[in-house]
Amino acid sequence: MSEQRPVNPAEIQKDLKDFIEKKYGAQVVFPQAEGAGSKEGPHTTQPVDEEINFDLKPEELEAYLNEYVIKQEQAKEILATKICTHFNRMKLDREDREGSGRLVGRIKNNILLIGPTGVGKTYLIKLIADRIGVPFVKGDATKFSETGYVGGDVEDLVRELVREAGGSIQKAEHGIIYVDEIDKIASASNLVGPDVSRTGVQRNLLKLMEETEVDLKAPHDLTSQMESMMKFQKSGKMEHQKINTRNILFIVSGAFNDLEEIVRKRLNLGSMGFKAESERFTEREFDRTAYVKQVASEDLIEFGFESEFIGRLPVVAVLEPLVVDDLYEILKNSNNSVTLGKKRDFEAYGIVLSFEEEALRKIAELAATERTGARALVRVIERILLKFEKTVPSTDIRSFTVTPAVVESPEIELERLLADRSVASYTEHFKKAYGINLRFDPGAAAYLGQEATSKGQSVTELCRSKFDDFGHGLKLLGKTEFVIDEQAARSAKQHLDQLIKLHYNRGTA
Ligand SMILES: Nc1ncnc2c1ncn2[C@@H]1O[C@H](COP(=O)(O)OP(=O)(O)OP(=O)(O)O)[C@@H](O)[C@H]1O
Ligand SMILES: [Mg+2]
Repeated sequence: MSEQRPVNPAEIQKDLKDFIEKKYGAQVVFPQAEGAGSKEGPHTTQPVDEEINFDLKPEELEAYLNEYVIKQEQAKEILATKICTHFNRMKLDREDREGSGRLVGRIKNNILLIGPTGVGKTYLIKLIADRIGVPFVKGDATKFSETGYVGGDVEDLVRELVREAGGSIQKAEHGIIYVDEIDKIASASNLVGPDVSRTGVQRNLLKLMEETEVDLKAPHDLTSQMESMMKFQKSGKMEHQKINTRNILFIVSGAFNDLEEIVRKRLNLGSMGFKAESERFTEREFDRTAYVKQVASEDLIEFGFESEFIGRLPVVAVLEPLVVDDLYEILKNSNNSVTLGKKRDFEAYGIVLSFEEEALRKIAELAATERTGARALVRVIERILLKFEKTVPSTDIRSFTVTPAVVESPEIELERLLADRSVASYTEHFKKAYGINLRFDPGAAAYLGQEATSKGQSVTELCRSKFDDFGHGLKLLGKTEFVIDEQAARSAKQHLDQLIKLHYNRGTA
């Protein structure tokens, strides 16, 4: 786009005014433009009448988190406690306001979560928001620009909270806003002078974290600005619906790479140096976490945050890296959404999927090498089962089990599964046609699978060409049961001839 972008709401409104005046005449009265930021002042929101029914105790919330989240004991404890207290305090303050009017000033317990990717940061917050039943929005700090006209601004999060709350401003005012990748708005330390735009985003965010009022209508949202202008033309009254952020809980998170170096420097420990070899990765992650757990405000300021910003984040929780055992526990957890989700995917085709424990362990081992925490579990399972998910629904297979062999060589195992299935349906056909129970041992079934693939035939076609003659032959021999091993499968005709010869030789001997 080569057009010039308006740089602030006043300009947008001016352009609008010019446009409308040109089109409809000069008598259009345009409401006073507002500044880009939020404005504190009187607002029209009704007093809170919708009770938030909150009576959870920290230990109950922690127990709830324990049902879903593996490890992360410290984070679970801190989050459960501080979030419960936040909501209980809110209730107490409201009762006091309604009663005696006594109000004690307080510092909101906004929370900073530090931890590598895929270890449960978002998951914990989502679980909590669900359990408490408050609206919840998640945003990415990288998406915001200081002015907001390019990527949207931090206040959009507050407006989104209203949408999440089904339009209820009161509910939104008790919601949780979660901002991920907060470390990306630390000002770059290698620049000379302050990194203006990132510092600007920090400032905007800290206003929200403290207390401010946000216009329900975004100044850069032309449609809603038009709407409110039309209303204004009709009623002569300018409606300003505002959302107060006093009770909105802010949780911010990030991976904070290299924060451990800053902590170590403060502790006079020097650099950790490079342990680049892959085996050292886990070890390094644990060392890292141990230092990050000792983080102090000054380290975060050194990292590139304004002291006022850090001042609004009195609670810090550090999450641990997940190792093979943890990933295995996650898979075995009956609330685990990864295996449940995959089972549902297959159930959608009427197929019952199950996992052997040993297979889960192998999946955990593969996932651990990817270094993306529990996120890798999804990727590994998808990678293993994709071809199964594509092929099995068109067969009459109604259940299958993920074994360690499936995890190790999914393609070969899929071939085997399909061959077994075709072989099984051939034996059914054989029984019906000749009244004989034909069985194939596993070696025979595997051979037939491979042979069919290499000949570009279906296993059933191959079986028919090889074994239909066995029907009459075996009948002749008076058999009601017969097992075919790999050798017999390889050279079926000779095998049958041999059998018949033997029988008659014995008979004539
Ligand atoms: N400790 C854990 N216990 C159980 N499941 C987990 C745990 N950590 C992650 N998971 C699973 O992995 C998924 C992804 O984790 P989550 O979204 O919480 O990652 P994150 O820590 O927010 O990472 P990122 O920094 O990449 O956003 C979750 O939805 C959950 O299913
Ligand atoms: Mg996340």
